[in-house]
Parts: sequence; C-alpha cells; structure tokens
Amino acid sequence: MMKILGIETSCDETAAAVVEAKTGSGFQVLGSRLKILSNIVASQIDLHRKYGGVYPELASRAHLENILPAIGAALDEAGADFDNINAIAVTIGPGLIGSLLVGVETARTLAYSLKKPILGINHLEAHIYANFVGEKKKIEFPALCLIVSGGHTSLILMKDHCKYQTIGQTRDDAAGEAFDKVSQLLRLPYPGGPAIEAIASQIRNPKPRTQNLEPKIELPRPMIDSEDFDFSFSGLKTAVLRITKKIGPKKVEENKAQIAAEFQNAVVDVLVAKTLRAAKIYKVKTVMLSGGVAANSLLRKELKSQTSVSKLKPNFSVPPKKLCTDNAAMIAVAGLFRFAKREKQNWSKIQAQSDLELR
Ligand code: KG4
Ligand code: ZN
Repeated sequence: MMKILGIETSCDETAAAVVEAKTGSGFQVLGSRLKILSNIVASQIDLHRKYGGVYPELASRAHLENILPAIGAALDEAGADFDNINAIAVTIGPGLIGSLLVGVETARTLAYSLKKPILGINHLEAHIYANFVGEKKKIEFPALCLIVSGGHTSLILMKDHCKYQTIGQTRDDAAGEAFDKVSQLLRLPYPGGPAIEAIASQIRNPKPRTQNLEPKIELPRPMIDSEDFDFSFSGLKTAVLRITKKIGPKKVEENKAQIAAEFQNAVVDVLVAKTLRAAKIYKVKTVMLSGGVAANSLLRKELKSQTSVSKLKPNFSVPPKKLCTDNAAMIAVAGLFRFAKREKQNWSKIQAQSDLELR
C-alpha cells in the first residue's frame, strides 16, 4: 500500500487529503484500488462573499492560516502521520499565484525536510482524475473531458493516461464565472452556481414557464452552432444584464427564478451540444465531466442522458459532487498516476506557475 498526501491552494479553498492505493499496480490504480482516507476542505466562501468573488490578497492570507491545520486534520482523519506518507502531490498551477505559492512552498518544505518525493500537479489534470475514483468505473481511451469551473471551460481530448490535447476552450468568461456574475446581477449569494441551481429548481418546468414572462425571457445559446469547439459566455451575462435593466429591480425580484432557470438552460444546452459533437467527431469511447460546475444537477443529468442516446454510446463518467468542486483528494489521485509513471520530482524542481498549460 502507498499513501499520498495531496495539497491544493490554487484559488479559495485550502485543501489537504490522504489517498491510498495498492502499490505496484501502475495504471491499474483505478477504482476500488484507490481509497480516499481523508479529504479536508477549509472553505473561504464566507470571507469572499461580500466581494461577490475571490479577493486574491485575502485568499493568500487565509491559505497561510489554514494550510497547516488542514494538513494536520487530513493526516489525523486518515490515521496517518508523516512517516507513513510515501509521497506529496501539490497543485502547481494554473491559479492565483499568491494562493499557489502557499501550497507549493509548504509542500516543498515538507518534501525537503522529510526527504519524500514530490509531484507537481496541474489543477485541470486533477479535475479530470477525480473521475478515476470509485468502483465499477469504465474509462476507456480516447476520452473526451469537459472541464467546467470558475476559471476554465475546456474540452480536452485524452488519448491515454496523462496525454492531453485541448480542442476547445472559452474565449472569454468561464462557465462558473458566468454563473457567479449572473448570480450577482440577480442579487443572489456567492458562489453563484449553487445559488442559481437552487432558485432555478423552484421552476418545475422551466422552458414553458419562461413564456409567461412579460417581456419574454429568452437568452441566446452562444456559439452553439459554430464549427469549432470553443465557448463564449460573456454575451450571456450581458443579455441577462440587459433584461434586468429593461424590466427593473421589482420585476427582476419577482422573476428571479425564471431568469436563473433560463440562464442555466442556456449554459447547459451549449455545453452539452458541443461536447456531444466533439465526442462524435473524435469517436471517443468515454465522456468525462468535471470541475465545479459539474456539481450542477441539470448538467450532470443532460450530459449523461444525451451521451447514452448518442450513436456511438460512449461511457459517461462524472465524479461525486464533493469531488467536482476544488479539493485535494483529486490532487492526490492525479499524483498517484504521475507516481505510477515514475515521475518523482525533487523539491528543488517544483515551482508555482499561474498560467500552467495542460499537456
Ligand atoms: O472547480 P471549482 O471549485 O474552482 C475552480 O477551479 O474554479 O469551481 C468553482 C465554480 C464556481 O464558479 C461555482 O459557482 C461553480 O463552480 N459551481 C457551480 C455549482 N457548484 C459550483 N456551478 C453551477 N452549479 C453548481 N451546482
Ligand atoms: Zn478547480
């Protein structure tokens, strides 16, 4: 058995986790061979709420306060200590540089003083690898990964373990960012995704109900028919802004749920349509969904059902909701796969990189 300590501080969650896997299993460290022993997330949501988004300077300071207690709690809950941790995996990017540095420098210090191997992990790769936890997983390559988070909206072709080709991404706002901004326009709390999902669920049958509104609430489906696999969500946010200005605060308040539901439908329609088209063109065997927005029930349901009725019927995978939003278990899992590739790095080679690309 080997145990790996995962550390994540790329944005506004200070997270630490311990994941265990059978040794010598190489890329067989899949599914039931992989066990999450602890997964601690110290959330900074309350801290950033009044700003309606992440305030980078405050995030770094909070990481500094939370990182050692989070690591301590992750070890305690796993019944582990530094002696029986075999390696350390840490997010090196992409993300906020001041936030990344806290996790990276902590991990480097631990690796140096404990003489343990350290693995620098790309945050996006970790979101993908959250899909590799759990039993009865059927993930075959080539796979198509839709990563939807607060910072990214990317379609990634994965030809094998740790081999990536980005085939499309957002040209402006990320999907999660659009949820957060529209939530602000509707005077809903931060983070916007869960708030919009909750209020939209009050509308049982959102599509027909939106017709009752005067003026009618209809939002565009940006780039849904474009030939490429890129996305654009800033126009959708502007369209919501235009509606709120047109109907005024009172009507916005009365029709919040309908606007939220129509916005959620628009985002889901575009994400699902483009993912399915890419899956067909690249003839993939698996479609994987991940990132914070993958916690959205409508997106999970629609992508799953439409994948299952598409012609080539690829397998569909989405992590449990807790592993979709930022956490350190996914960092440790990605670390295990990198470790299996014998990619052990020395602490002196690890560096935070805010704009790290996925290759
Ligand atoms: O992956 P994540 O935790 O952090 C980044 O790497 O960015 O994603 C956070 C984003 C936020 O924009 C949040 O509003 C969105 O994920 N999100 C959701 C839901 N839960 C979180 N969006 C839609 N529906 C949700 N249920
Ligand atoms: Zn993330």
